[in-house]
Parts: sequence; C-alpha cells; structure tokens
Amino acid sequence: MSEKTTGMRKGLAGYGDAGFSLFLRKAFIKAMGYSDDALDRPIIGITNTFSGYNACHRNVPDMIEAIKRGVMLAGGLPIEFPVISMHEAFSHPTSMYLRNLMAMDVEEMVRAQPMDAVVLIGGCDKTVPALLMGAASAKVPAILTVTGPMITGSHKGERLGACTDCRRLWGQHRAGNIDEAEIEEISGKLAPGPGTCMVMGTASTMALVSEAMGMMLPGGAAIPAVHADRMRHAEATGARAVSLAADRILPEQIMTPASLRNAMRVLQAVGGSTNAVVHLAAIAGRLGFDLNLEELDALGAETPVLVDLKPSGQHYMEDLFRAGGLVTVLREIDTMIDRDCLTVTGRTLGQEIDAQPQSWPQDAVRTVADPIHSGGGIRLLRGNLAPQGAIIKQAAATPELLRHTGRAVVFSSLADMAERLDDPALDVRADDVLVLQNAGPKGAPGMPEAGYIPIPKKLAAAGVKDMVRISDARMSGTAFGAIVLHVSPEAAVGGPLGLVRDGDVIALDVEAGTLSLQVDDAELQARRAQWSAPDHVNVSRGYAKLYFDEVLQAEDGCDFNFLRANPRNLGQ
Ligand code: FES
Ligand code: MG
Repeated sequence: MSEKTTGMRKGLAGYGDAGFSLFLRKAFIKAMGYSDDALDRPIIGITNTFSGYNACHRNVPDMIEAIKRGVMLAGGLPIEFPVISMHEAFSHPTSMYLRNLMAMDVEEMVRAQPMDAVVLIGGCDKTVPALLMGAASAKVPAILTVTGPMITGSHKGERLGACTDCRRLWGQHRAGNIDEAEIEEISGKLAPGPGTCMVMGTASTMALVSEAMGMMLPGGAAIPAVHADRMRHAEATGARAVSLAADRILPEQIMTPASLRNAMRVLQAVGGSTNAVVHLAAIAGRLGFDLNLEELDALGAETPVLVDLKPSGQHYMEDLFRAGGLVTVLREIDTMIDRDCLTVTGRTLGQEIDAQPQSWPQDAVRTVADPIHSGGGIRLLRGNLAPQGAIIKQAAATPELLRHTGRAVVFSSLADMAERLDDPALDVRADDVLVLQNAGPKGAPGMPEAGYIPIPKKLAAAGVKDMVRISDARMSGTAFGAIVLHVSPEAAVGGPLGLVRDGDVIALDVEAGTLSLQVDDAELQARRAQWSAPDHVNVSRGYAKLYFDEVLQAEDGCDFNFLRANPRNLGQ
C-alpha cells in the first residue's frame, strides 16, 4: 500500500511494529479478493442495518448497492459492515431500551475498523438517533441517509397509513364495526411495503430534523422508500462520503448548538414527534453540550406548524415529497433558521436552500401566513411535579385543557393501569387528571410510549374525548391529547411524580409553563420518607444492569452517563 492510502492505515498503533500491523491487515483484507489498486483508496464504511425483522429497512440491500456505486464512481472503496438493526414492533421491552446498545455498537465498530468516512443507513424510529449518537462519539466523518417513508396503502378506497390508522381501525374492530375477517385483511394493507411509517411519527421526524441539521444530503428525508430517487440519493451519498473523507469534516462540525437549534425549529414547524426531543438531547450530550429546553419552549411558542401530515393533518410523507420535501418547509421559515450552519455537502444550509428549485403550488406545506397552528408545538413545563422538566404537545391538546386544575387519579404502574382503567367502579370524572407512575426510563423500563393513557372506558362511553394525562413515559408521534410527557425526575428514581396520591390536586398551565402538585412540602417529605424504588431496578447482570446503572433522565436524552462527552456528576 502506498503512502496515499489512508483507510487501512487508520488507527495503526499495532504492537510496536506498524509495518507488520499493516502487512497483517492487508493479508486479511486481501482474502476478500480486493486488489492492491482497490485498497489504495479512501475506504468508506457502510453500516448495514438490514434485518429480517425490520421491514422499515427492507430496501437496505438495494441502498447499499447504490451507495457502493457512488463510492466507487468517486474513487473510493466501499466496505459494508453489520450493526444492530431495530424495528419498533420487535424490540422487547422497548426500542428505547435498546437504542443505546445500538449507539454503542455503531461507535465501537466505526472506531475499531479502518474507514475514512462512514455512510449511516437509518430508518425506523431509534436507528437514526443511535447512528448519529454513535458517529458523533466515534469522531469519524459521517453522512446519513435513510430508507425513506412507505407509500400509503388503501382499503375499500380509503387511504391508509401506519400507524395512525392502525389504532383507529383496531378501535373500530373492538367496537364491533369491523369483523374478524376484515381486520385480518386490513393488517395486510397498513404497511404496504418497505420503508418507515409514512405519517409524522418519530421516523419521519428524525429524518427531517437530521436533514435540517445538515447530516444528510438535501432532499433525502422525504423520498419514498420505493422511489428511484431513493437509490439516486443513496448513490450521491456514497459519492459525497468520499469527498467528506478528504475534507475531514467531522459530525461535531455539523451537529453544533446552532444546527441543533435549527433541528428544534424544524421539529416545531413540521409538528414533529415529541420523541425527537429525547433523541436530540442525547445527540447534544455526545457532543459536549445540553439541549436547551427553555429554547425549545421559546421556539415552540413562536414557530407555526406548517406541515399538514397525519396524525394532526391530512397528508402523508409521499405528499410532502411531491411538495418538495424539507426544503419547502425551510424556505418558509428561512428567516427563523441559522443559514450559516455547515452541512455534509461542505456548504451551508442557507446555500443549500438557495440551490434547490423554487416552489410550486402544493398543499402539504402551509405558509407562515396560513399555518396549521400558529405556534404552539412542543412546550416545556416545570414546577414541583417536574423539577427537571416535562413537555406537552400543545397543538395536539384540547385548548380548554391547557389550563386546568383537577383531582389526581393515580396508576402506580402500567400493570396497575391495565387492571383498573376500565373498571366501572373506578372513581374518575371527566375533569380529573390521570397520572401514570413508573413508566419512565427506569420505571417500565425503557420509557415506553405509554403516555397516551386511554380515556377510562366509562368516560369514553359518555363521550369524553380528552383529559389531562401526566406521566414519565413517552408518546408515539402518531397520538394526540392533553398529554404531559417525560416528567423528570421519573417516579422510579424518587421523582415527585411517584409521590402523587389519589385525590391530590394538580394544576397545569401551559401558557405559564407550569405543572404543580398542590400538596404542602411537609406532606411530600413524609411521603418521600416512605418511598422505595421498585424492585425491578435491582438487576445483577447483562445489558439490563448496564442500563439501570447508567441510564439518565429524559432531559439528558436517556443516554448512558458514561457515553456523554461530559458525564454528569450524579453525586454517587
Ligand atoms: Fe419503523 Fe414505524 S415501525 S418507522
Ligand atoms: Mg413510533
């Protein structure tokens, strides 16, 4: 190998004999059949996130072919390698529980193997955050691409999308309006092909905010998984990875406090999933800074929601694609974003916006003058019930409930809620506040998407559509209601949420940004003295032990403390 070879030399510490080390590497990699000429070029790693369990990544093999083509056309040598793949439906106990494991896998494999740059192939909800977290920590030039959204399905002439329609149609089945045979038929139509959920769930949100952060080539977030443009984007991503390697642009130069602020702005403007707040916080922690939740709140108050996608709107990702994708949104909020942020293209976000074709008539992205909601996406709440914060998706809540005081009806765990919620004898009224404890990062564990507490059956039957609901859990990007999420610290680590009892009075004021438990301090102290952590947090082995020992709260993105650039001093 000549001196210009970078890839195979990377990290060549050897055991005191660098020459021998390189000789060995060369011998083993040549067993793959590569020629000296092939090896004498920049090496571009490609994360293979295909899995037979992950239909959201079904097109990854095709994408890898296209990425390889791009790398080779640009003069590099592509080498794919496996990392963990995760699908939302097949990640027990939750995909959030496993996200950090994937991030560790990505970080270590990118660092361990020789590569001058890496192409990250994300898609399903937790994969994009895990890839970006791992790449940020590995400090290797990295470029993201995604598998892209699914196209919509249809049933009896009605357009269907996962998984906003999954819940709705299952509800109709339970109500007796759809029989066994038909619901069986529908199960084959909700997810009609490869790609990610095609509503504004977490996958779509993370793809869009990642593109906004500059980690993806322009236009990549919204291209449907089955569209030929998806392969062209993959090819271009491979080609760009080669020059990214030459430019030595690191993830930390792209994912800066300013570009994360752009991501938060876009999160609000697209009406994105609350889960993105957790993931962005984790990414920030890898890079040595904290996601500023007060800033997120301020942006939420002033940024109009422009994208008209389900579950809050009417369209799907393929409609956003036809409307021009993310750049159509960015052009609308041009004056609200930092145009100077560097992107993987080596140019700034502003330059990329200006380089895109101009807009055309479309109805998936509204104008600032005519938004879906005039400000009021995700808001921050603080108070004695959530000293380290909680969030609410204001635009998805019943306006009358945004300022509400009510009596707490408490469920101590998911199991307790499942057992009693629909009990006709449950003492609950429409103006009560439903509280779910022990469903946070350590509580459930894995902070499941259980924050969308169902309306108790007897109230639902009486026509109650929304109630104030509070928990330390997360919520699917496809759900809505007056739902307070991510209460921190969580109940399972002794947070005040775990001290709430039936009949306590809770006051929510979204405008003021407060969430308070109207119980005096002496009483709370007395309850705290009696509190003990749930048994399940005492784990002695395996990944679970690592998880329970190290997982942080929602405001730190539920990352493991030791994976942050600057671990928190937790005083232990
Ligand atoms: Fe993978 Fe929805 S299940 S994106
Ligand atoms: Mg989801």
